[in-house]
Amino acid sequence: SMIPVITIDGPTASGKGTIAHRVGQALGWSVLDSGALYRLTALAVRDGGIDPADELAVASIAGRLDVCFDGGRIWLAGRDVAAQIREEPIGNLASQVAAYGPVRQALLARQRAFRRAPGLVADGRDMGTVVFPDAPLKIFLVASVQARAERRCKQLKEKGFSANLAGLLQDMRARDERDRSRIHAPLSAAPGAKTIDSSNLTIDATVDAVLDYWSRL
Ligand code: C5P
Repeated sequence: SMIPVITIDGPTASGKGTIAHRVGQALGWSVLDSGALYRLTALAVRDGGIDPADELAVASIAGRLDVCFDGGRIWLAGRDVAAQIREEPIGNLASQVAAYGPVRQALLARQRAFRRAPGLVADGRDMGTVVFPDAPLKIFLVASVQARAERRCKQLKEKGFSANLAGLLQDMRARDERDRSRIHAPLSAAPGAKTIDSSNLTIDATVDAVLDYWSRL
């Protein structure tokens, strides 16, 4: 496709979502939060009383998600679930069902449909390796587990959820390990990806680093 894509992959809470959103705004491009699709699948599985261990039942739910993205809102079967899918238990269930090949397959076409002119910024784990391998710019956004746990803790508290740093550190390590070691589309830097470590960078500096790579292509 001639429509450009900037992929931003990295571990949980590395700031991908915020950075992708800001880069999309700066360029006037669409944004794909691919993690939201896995979180929506997790929510649909939980609410539908589906056994999370039943790979094919989960994949079938993923293929039939009735979802609508509209600005910051995310509708699942007519319900605004944007806040609900951010909860930690849903994130953990998302990471569990994201390990299933048939689930990833079921979400592939839906992700690629976000590629519209004039361009797309896509964030996730496998945007550069699997979903948009022809993207002209691929970013691998990392940060120390400590920095990421602190960010997530702050984020959750701001949203009025309770949060515990030690627990978050433990969950984050477990989720990183699962995302990196799974057989289907493990988290890894795509060939040619530019790695940015945001541990000690502000949001603005990180956005600038991405835009800088883009302007130098
Ligand atoms: O990025 P976010 O934390 O919202 O993603 C939730 C989970 O969905 C991740 O832990 C990961 O297991 C999965 N995911 C994925 N591939 C993506 C995006 C998210 O496997 N492209």
